[in-house]
Amino acid sequence: MENIRNFCIIAHIDHGKSTLADRLLEFTQTVQKRDMQAQLLDDMDLERERGITIKSHAIQMDYLYQGKKYVLNLIDTPGHVDFSYEVSRSIAACEGALLIVDAAQGIEAQTISNLYLALGQDLEIIPVLNKIDLPGAMIEEVSDQIIDLLGCKPDEIIHASGKEGIGISDILAAIVERIPSPEGNPEAELQALIFDSSFNSFRGIEVIFRVFNGRIRKGDKVKFVATGKQYEADEVGVLRLDKEPREFIGAGDVGYIISGIKEAKEVKVGDTITHVARPTPLIVKGFEDVKPMVFAGIYPVETSEFEELRASMEKLQLNDASLVWEPETSAALGFGFRCGFLGMLHMEIVQERLEREFDMTVITTVPSVQFHCYLTRGEMIKISAPSEMPDPSLIDHIEEPFIKAQIISKSEYVGSIIALCMDKRGIIKNQIYLTSDRVELSFDLPLSEIVFDFFDKLKTISRGYASLDYELIGFRESNMVKLDIMLNGEKVDALSAIVHRDKAYDWGKRLCEKLRELLPRQMFEIAIQAAIGQKIIARETVKAMRKNVLAKCYGGDISRKRKLLEKQKKGKKRMRQVGNVEIPQEAFMAVLKLE
Ligand code: GTP
Repeated sequence: MENIRNFCIIAHIDHGKSTLADRLLEFTQTVQKRDMQAQLLDDMDLERERGITIKSHAIQMDYLYQGKKYVLNLIDTPGHVDFSYEVSRSIAACEGALLIVDAAQGIEAQTISNLYLALGQDLEIIPVLNKIDLPGAMIEEVSDQIIDLLGCKPDEIIHASGKEGIGISDILAAIVERIPSPEGNPEAELQALIFDSSFNSFRGIEVIFRVFNGRIRKGDKVKFVATGKQYEADEVGVLRLDKEPREFIGAGDVGYIISGIKEAKEVKVGDTITHVARPTPLIVKGFEDVKPMVFAGIYPVETSEFEELRASMEKLQLNDASLVWEPETSAALGFGFRCGFLGMLHMEIVQERLEREFDMTVITTVPSVQFHCYLTRGEMIKISAPSEMPDPSLIDHIEEPFIKAQIISKSEYVGSIIALCMDKRGIIKNQIYLTSDRVELSFDLPLSEIVFDFFDKLKTISRGYASLDYELIGFRESNMVKLDIMLNGEKVDALSAIVHRDKAYDWGKRLCEKLRELLPRQMFEIAIQAAIGQKIIARETVKAMRKNVLAKCYGGDISRKRKLLEKQKKGKKRMRQVGNVEIPQEAFMAVLKLE
């Protein structure tokens, strides 16, 4: 065990974690140069296209240091605030962390929040000043920021460039020298923590774990403590570039198990694996339950695909423990699921993964946060969809979730950031100058005002020089109302929203205007109305038109006609017929695009 090191890489988004991980894999010859591709660990297409890490990835490296062989288990983690849940899970499996800071950007909001997560688990922190090759690198200034934050010595900071391959051997040496080897007793009862899982269509469900005590052998009879289910370990192994089977995985190490698990719900990330015959009295402290921040309905475009969608969601959940859902029905859309997401990016990713990995075409409805609704008869109910809102006469008061937001920016943007937060019903709590031109601002803000487009707005007004991190602080009373949308006099539940009364009129008006732009013209006129209770507050009309694409084709070029028809069909894919009106996906997201 003394030659094992388990570490993760934590950083603010885009500070270069994945690139640095590539260099470590190359340097330790875990990957041969010819097999190398950029951001190797970001193996989902989506991650590559967007250039972001969504999932944590574990990989094992061998490293020869001063004549001794070491096994290094690296866990790459995502940087975006939506995925901090993945970070907290990776951290629980490690003894140390590389804290990467971009030398041209300096410390940002998630540098701090991820660092606190790591310190909370007593990880040894190795600070790495990255991207020193950039002309804009502010080596001294950012080093000072790191020293201030960590209280470390200047020579403990490793200067590196993932791009140019600078500082890689220093980082590896520091991992061996500074990060403690895992503790634990290989002879004790088996105690392993599940920190990830995935579904592989050939091999079934693979569970990734870290062994704290004991060892797990191929053929062992094991038990997952929380679910109580028992399995035989058909295969255990380590995570190299591919999965490599081993006879056993011992205390301190990271590995995978394949054991005939049938259903996604049998695996709970944070659960403990132990032996049936000799169970551990120690349950690894699991993780906090995920707190979804945004809720939305997901519906199949084809109503007949509901069961298929359920199976796909179950499989996806296995690979994304932060996704929560339950069945719901909508008068407009039929059977679907109410899902909880960590944020809007997470929601987008889920929708895209359902489409790409499971070939499902889905509609997601207007996102909402979860409100606490206190009824006059004393009881409290949680509502995360406008359709769940009781009749106003039954409501005593409603509370909405508030967050504490930490914004770090250049001082010249402070004025506009404060103005933006005030407009979002925020209350400024604190303002600290980190250096002469970097400021940390704290606000209390309603979650519903920031989950949607706040971050984009913040980036725009600060020209990209602001970073945001937030945590839930509780619920506060707010004057929320339900804004209904009607198409040709019929309420479309999937389009309504819960909004603050002060903003309701303005929203209703702009929402109707936006919907007028987004709803395709049809053979008849469509009246779009916004209402609060019985009161209509806005109205727009989509004029009738016969949209005949074939009218453009003179003559009889049949192949051209077919192409046009196919194009039209494709364009229609993400649409749902509600009553006699066709609603495209964009319309459900219209509330998010109000300027
Ligand atoms: P997330 O996983 O999404 O949080 O990002 P990340 O921290 O893994 O960053 P990634 O490695 O994807 O790098 C972000 C960008 O910075 C990419 O465009 C890289 O090419 C670039 N980059 C990474 N390391 C360096 C470096 O050392 N020098 C320079 N100049 N650019 C770098």
